Amino acid sequence: LTIIHIAAEMAPIAKVGGLADVVTGLSKATAARGHSVEVVLPYYAFLEGSPDVRDARSVGVFNVPKGNGLARCEAFTATVEGCRVLLLRPVDQGSLFQGQSVYGGAYNETEAYLHFSRSALEAVRVLDRRPDVLHCHEWQTGAVPMLFWEAYSANLPRTRLVLTIHNFDSVGECRQDEFLHTGMAGGAFASVDRALDERTVGHNPERLCLLKGGIVYANAVTTVSPNYAREAVRDGAAGFLKSTLAQPHIAAKFTGIINGIDTESWDPAQDATLPAPFSGASPRGKALCKRFLQAGLGMSVAPDKPLVAVVSRLVPQKGIHLMEAALHHIAQHGGQFVLLGSGHADGALRRAAEEQYRDNADVQCLFMYSEPLSHLIYAAADMFLVPSLFEPCGLTQLIALRYGAIPIVRATGGLADTVKDVASGDVGPVSVGGNGYVFQGMDGGAVQAAVGRAMADYRERPGEWQGLVLRVLDDGDAWSWDGPTEEYLDIYSKVLA
Ligand code: ADP
Ligand code: GLC
Repeated sequence: LTIIHIAAEMAPIAKVGGLADVVTGLSKATAARGHSVEVVLPYYAFLEGSPDVRDARSVGVFNVPKGNGLARCEAFTATVEGCRVLLLRPVDQGSLFQGQSVYGGAYNETEAYLHFSRSALEAVRVLDRRPDVLHCHEWQTGAVPMLFWEAYSANLPRTRLVLTIHNFDSVGECRQDEFLHTGMAGGAFASVDRALDERTVGHNPERLCLLKGGIVYANAVTTVSPNYAREAVRDGAAGFLKSTLAQPHIAAKFTGIINGIDTESWDPAQDATLPAPFSGASPRGKALCKRFLQAGLGMSVAPDKPLVAVVSRLVPQKGIHLMEAALHHIAQHGGQFVLLGSGHADGALRRAAEEQYRDNADVQCLFMYSEPLSHLIYAAADMFLVPSLFEPCGLTQLIALRYGAIPIVRATGGLADTVKDVASGDVGPVSVGGNGYVFQGMDGGAVQAAVGRAMADYRERPGEWQGLVLRVLDDGDAWSWDGPTEEYLDIYSKVLA
């Protein structure tokens, strides 16, 4: 098959969170099975001159409908992690994509991604790509299916559209005039927003919801775990889009596929960022990694202290108050806490770290983004905390398992699909079968009880604990892209049939 992904992020060159990992991981795994795969990405200004895209080569300038006229766009091919990439740069269009990070630049993101969506389709046409599947991700490319059926399907009658929703939290809304700026007639706007479900609560009828448009016009819609798909349909996870998902023809094309992790980039036996490699067969290096991190951060170099880690965007989704509750419990009970995180919701944690724990070397909160440091933390940690209020899939608990750090998670979304409690929720010894600690509530007591159980098992049953660590290390391929890739290929065959 010929598959083209269209997305706002791709690891490692333009990464904010898991979306980037998924685009790269799925592309690599699909290409490794002999399919032709290409990723279309905005040519963000911070990529100019970056060694990551040293081989970027212009393959032409073309016109893209914009407003009442045409705008120009230049396309570049490059190779990232062995994947073919098409980078699209708006020409003479002011500040579009001129920021120093993927999001948050001084330009209108709706305008930017609508233009990117239209440019991606134009690039496919002008460069004579003939994809079987156009695979879009998130609201940023939600307009692609609408634009495709309105203006490109006649030339590409075999092409089908797949949309993956990584998070219902951002749905992308735009005014009618902003949508018309893509050079499209208003038909799509009217049919998606007005006719479809006018009675949706909490939705502004004056605005087009780009994610909803994508859902309606794509041939298949996926989200990133079966449990989050259920939460979207049954509970509140999809917000006002619940009623859209409930329509039988939409429900029939909507599924959840768990994410994988790239087991080559995340491999403790081969990881060049670690002071010592390790694996289930040869686990000694893990203790050295812990020692190295403890010494490097100025913590007490104590092999027996349970070291609990967090690597996370610091946004409300991630359960900041639960991280804080866990931190207090760990500090009071002689454990070690390391946090690596960045994001606007870091206030409470910063205060705790800077005021309450300034003199406690065993509490280290690093408010920054660092890929290499994240590797070392996964490798060094005994336990890894993910207390998210909601979590479509979550990759960090999977990476933690790969590095023998036992996850402690809240039972939500993909966390509930991937982590099973060692004691099925009861206080008890580390048992066979489970791979972590799971709690239910949203109050501090719930996370503290789970962390307390893990620390007690670690201290009181070291033999069994080591057995658990070896078991998850031996099972290191469990969360590779192999299974999920087959599921995506199944969806591709279904929509092409
Ligand atoms: P989300 O996409 O919601 O942020 P995921 O768990 O799917 O959550 O993916 C998060 C990804 O971002 C993981 O690869 C994780 O290691 C990485 N990450 C998050 N915060 C940081 C940070 N501060 N430094 C380095 N990597 C981070
Ligand atoms: C989103 C979700 C996260 C998921 C990631 C990749 O950022 O918050 O749960 O793992 O997308 O699909």
